[in-house]
Amino acid sequence: MGMAIKLTARTKRLMERDRKVFLSTTRESYPFIADRGDGDFTYDMEGNRFIDFSSFISVYNFGVNANSEVRRAAKDQIDRLMHAAFTDYRAELPVKFGEELVTMFPRDFGRMFLSNSGTEANEAAIKFAQLFTKRQYVMAFYSAFHGRTKGSLALTASKAVQRTGFGPFSNTIHVPFAYCYRCPLKQTYPDCGYACVDFIKQYPLKNEVSGREVAAFFVEPVQGEGGYIVPPKGYFKEIKKITEDNGMLLVADEVQSGYMRTGKFLALDNFGVTADIYTMAKSIAGGLPMGVTMVRRSLGDIPAGSHANTFGGNLVSVAAAYALLKHVKRNRRKFEAMAKSKGRRIMKRLEQMKERYELVGDARGLGMMLAIELVRSKKGKEPAVKEREKVLEEAFSNGLLMLPAGESAIRIIPPLTMSVQHIDRGLDVLEDAIKKTNSEMLNKK
Ligand SMILES: Cc1ncc(COP(=O)(O)O)c(C=O)c1O
Repeated sequence: MGMAIKLTARTKRLMERDRKVFLSTTRESYPFIADRGDGDFTYDMEGNRFIDFSSFISVYNFGVNANSEVRRAAKDQIDRLMHAAFTDYRAELPVKFGEELVTMFPRDFGRMFLSNSGTEANEAAIKFAQLFTKRQYVMAFYSAFHGRTKGSLALTASKAVQRTGFGPFSNTIHVPFAYCYRCPLKQTYPDCGYACVDFIKQYPLKNEVSGREVAAFFVEPVQGEGGYIVPPKGYFKEIKKITEDNGMLLVADEVQSGYMRTGKFLALDNFGVTADIYTMAKSIAGGLPMGVTMVRRSLGDIPAGSHANTFGGNLVSVAAAYALLKHVKRNRRKFEAMAKSKGRRIMKRLEQMKERYELVGDARGLGMMLAIELVRSKKGKEPAVKEREKVLEEAFSNGLLMLPAGESAIRIIPPLTMSVQHIDRGLDVLEDAIKKTNSEMLNKK
């Protein structure tokens, strides 16, 4: 079982100092003060050890603080040259990295733009799609998360608070996603015959905007921040058809779902569909900042001078990303198998929890991108918002780090490399926290 962690006044003092100098963001309710990490574990300032079921927001897909090859490559590059103004000058390392990276994409890919984050990768995708198609509108799903800067925030529609005070966002159309556990059209898959896809064709694309004015349709192959929502297997073929019928580009935001997380380099491959533009970030440089916008070769180029940045192609980030990519290519089959078998193992336990506890309404996921959704009753499906906080806090107190998603879901995303023993131990801590919160909830009723 998990180890009860110990906190002293040091943690509280640090949190107070933090609050004085930093604006609020999305901090967890529990007091985790990161200090160091290694593989399956991370340690806080007080020396408490935690099993990491968050991969630090889906960044350490291959172990907390990456592997020694990635760290070595970054350290060596620091001593050589850190920054080379890659959008103004050239350097060999990003070219070598780029040549390797395109081999991970479908055959007619591609050319890319390097940036520093997921949101920046998506901003570039929006701008490029507008240039390529000479169209202005973009489409995205409800419960989507594509980032927090103004262009990608316009696509984001997972929580109103993320947009409150920042609008209007005039060039974005939102449409319902295939969130089958809570179907927005109150249908049941597969009897629905993809009613949600028909809805897109019937309403937004007839009543609001012509499909011929839409530059791109942005999708997360598995929705992340919005709740770890996995659509049915055939769903993206339907969405692809909409984009083809209207001459729109399909943009796959693989920032969270990509880079082996679901068992494939590109999560969209699980659905047998190819996008026109892919965006990636998070895991790609093993813990350093990097965003990639990868464009189908046939789309051509953008006019010189129309897009650039200062730090894209930063040599330290690229050195780390290149070392990680070589590591992943060498071990690709192993990582694919790991995501599959460990994902199955975790899913089995989550399904058991769903059977055992009223609180667990749904268990879902793809590969090692998994979640449970907590509800106050299985029948009514009322989101168990407070209970979710309790489960996270209780698990934290027993040495397990996790992150929420959506209104009442919890993500389970350990590094793919986590040992089965530590995965099982983490799941035991999770189940204990659920069991306790479930009893408290039922006793109160
Ligand atoms: C699918 C997806 N897209 C974009 C982003 C934004 O990435 P960043 O926080 O690096 O800007 C995130 C971050 O959580 C994400 O999950």
